[in-house]
Amino acid sequence: MSTENRADALRAYIAEHPRSSFENNPWALMAAIEHFATTKSHMIIFRESKVRIARAALEAMPVKPKVILEFGTYVGNSALAWGAILRSLYGEDAAAQGCRVYTFELDPGMVCVAREFIQLAGLDDLVQVLEGPAAESLKTLYEEGKIARGGVDMVFFDHWEKYYLPDLLLCEDLRVFREGSLVIADNTDMPGAPRYLKHVRSGGGGGLGMVRYESKAFESTTQIGVPSIVEISTVLET
Ligand SMILES: C[S@@+](CC[C@H](N)C(=O)[O-])C[C@H]1O[C@@H](n2cnc3c(N)ncnc32)[C@H](O)[C@@H]1O
Repeated sequence: MSTENRADALRAYIAEHPRSSFENNPWALMAAIEHFATTKSHMIIFRESKVRIARAALEAMPVKPKVILEFGTYVGNSALAWGAILRSLYGEDAAAQGCRVYTFELDPGMVCVAREFIQLAGLDDLVQVLEGPAAESLKTLYEEGKIARGGVDMVFFDHWEKYYLPDLLLCEDLRVFREGSLVIADNTDMPGAPRYLKHVRSGGGGGLGMVRYESKAFESTTQIGVPSIVEISTVLET
């Protein structure tokens, strides 16, 4: 099945349920998406077992996160999670308090599906999907002043692994991190992002003015029981 057909089938599956079961209930919508992705048609989403790991890290941050960047939206499953976590940390008026999730996606079809789901779950005031290459979207946000120096609390990498390191280096160049920001990356073991892992695990590029990290691998399991790593790096110095 093509990506587009799979997304249409997912949309149809969600539409079989009463809208009220998902309205203002992102966790229920994520559970339904994951059920579809597991039982109906294989989809590569950031699953609940991994969301739990990331959520614990976000909730343990000494300074509560407000601004999240996500590289790779797909159908919006993890974007829903980030919005739901910010809402649980800040309450219904999280957006008015400055909370934002900016999520980047290349595929226009996926952008539409993700926006529909985000709206259905009542998170459209918090979560914004930007269409196009993630690096370009990030530069635009920065130029527009929507992302400031030191203004990003968490970055999530879940697009194509070859872009993980260049896009992390772009975040470093734009100086969007603060001390304590988190960088979370999926699939660093499989398909694998060796250059990215080397960078964060060796503490960063080194040298004056470079971002320094402390990095740790968290093991989770996929739906077929295969171990899978989520790499969480904490910014020590900017
Ligand atoms: C593994 S999926 C993301 C899954 C998503 N985080 C979730 O949990 O539902 C990867 C997505 O990244 C997108 N992508 C890949 N490279 C990209 C880039 N350079 N900029 C923006 N999106 C990209 C792909 O089109 C695909 O939809």
